[in-house]
Amino acid sequence: MVSIKSIEVQAKKESISSQLLVFGLKEGDIFSGWGDNASSDLNKAISMASFTGKLGKTVHTFGNDNIQRVSVYGLGKENKLNSDGIREIASKISMYANSHDLKDISVDGESFGLDSNVYAQAFAEGLVLGAYQFLDYKSKKKNPNTLVNVFIYGDVDVNAVSKGEVIGNGVAYARDLGNHPANILTPAKLAEDAVEIGNSAGMKSTIIDVSEFQDLGFGSFYGVAQGSTANPAKLILVEYNGGKSGDKPFALVGKGLTFDTGGISIKPSGRMEEMKYDMCGSAVVMGVLKAVASLKPKINIIFAIGATENMPDGDAQRPGDIVTAYNGKTIEVINTDAEGRLVLADVLSYVNDKYSPVAMLDFATLTGAVLIALGDKATGLMGNNKELMDEVKSSSDDTGERVWELPLWDEYTEDIKSKFADIKNVGNGRLAGTITAGAFLKEFVEDTPWVHFDIAGTAWGPTKPSYQPKIGSTGVAVRLVYNLLEKRAN
Ligand code: BES
Ligand code: MG
Ligand code: ZN
Repeated sequence: MVSIKSIEVQAKKESISSQLLVFGLKEGDIFSGWGDNASSDLNKAISMASFTGKLGKTVHTFGNDNIQRVSVYGLGKENKLNSDGIREIASKISMYANSHDLKDISVDGESFGLDSNVYAQAFAEGLVLGAYQFLDYKSKKKNPNTLVNVFIYGDVDVNAVSKGEVIGNGVAYARDLGNHPANILTPAKLAEDAVEIGNSAGMKSTIIDVSEFQDLGFGSFYGVAQGSTANPAKLILVEYNGGKSGDKPFALVGKGLTFDTGGISIKPSGRMEEMKYDMCGSAVVMGVLKAVASLKPKINIIFAIGATENMPDGDAQRPGDIVTAYNGKTIEVINTDAEGRLVLADVLSYVNDKYSPVAMLDFATLTGAVLIALGDKATGLMGNNKELMDEVKSSSDDTGERVWELPLWDEYTEDIKSKFADIKNVGNGRLAGTITAGAFLKEFVEDTPWVHFDIAGTAWGPTKPSYQPKIGSTGVAVRLVYNLLEKRAN
């Protein structure tokens, strides 16, 4: 949950009252403030602290009855500053306000360079993300966030700020979904939420229940879902038509494993509770859906989620089982814990067949191996189309959400050939585990431009930069994907 309820832009005023007024200062610049008492008190504090505007340094002082506190945040050298730095500083401002139980704060927009729309959006995102907390399951809430209203003063674009606020809330929503435990966030609950958001903006939703999977030819998805009897699987589809009618849609596909025990190839019990996060790919799709419902970009989009648990059960599939995917390919299930690719196989080929999308992106906590390759510092990418890959990388640069491309050479496809079926769901031994998973997915996208995001390393865990949460799910990739869609729409 995010405590901030509103971020307002206002023209600069002679006199305001506020619990805190915040300035930014570039390294080497002279602080001028607003020429009021509070600013001159801050000026004294700045010289006493020998503050020069270095990045990461701050000066805080008490003001007067009208402006109770005044702070200045160092922005570092102008040529080193970028929007991600602005996002991080804004998150620290939220955290400072919350740790001092402040409800309303004011920001001098121009001193942070918020006359730039890119900075204004990043600043709003940072404020929202810095005010994120997940206390839903604490019966006594300790230190709940207090910051509710932010006023930004100066020549700052209202739309850029409100876009940043909406996108920040989309990321926060994705974090919430990741953090809810699997007994609460079931496939049915995920479907219900998707329909509700879709309805709020007049979108068409279709929920396909597991009982229909075999008739529709989703043999691969069904194999994973057949052990999930208490919480039946759903294929969730939401259609957004913001673009020209007749324009082919852009498809977003998410792995929504609300819990992954590994199935009959059961996982060791150490840290198995983290497998509630195995739906974070679907959280990307949901977070973007939420932002789209509010910002209404001019583009057609299909949101698709394969939601199920992966359980060991009398009805669960066995290692060695052979299933037939929607596109007719047969798959030997060597390891029931390599289930994400089995779910995505049918969702990707169904979306591709039914909607003929211009392009597809999929998001999945797919392999532990991506943590070995990249740690928690970057999302692993693979794809079949250079232009689409370049778009993703450019949105990564714009948003500071790091990605790294891994190769998908044909030789890796050799590694997933099966003795009995067309392909098998694992590679050979532990070599190139992330890439062989990508090579498997490639079998289900035909020639449609496609990029796969392996977010197993980035969906939970990272606590830096400071706008990342201290615990739990990060809401990774929502900002990047929204940026890409928006650039496509324009
Ligand atoms: N959900 C896991 C991947 C995962 C593991 C994500 C650890 C985050 C942290 C996925 O379903 C899985 O179990 N993959 C296996 C594949 C293997 C059996 C080929 C893995 O990575 O071990
Ligand atoms: Mg698994
Ligand atoms: Zn999984």
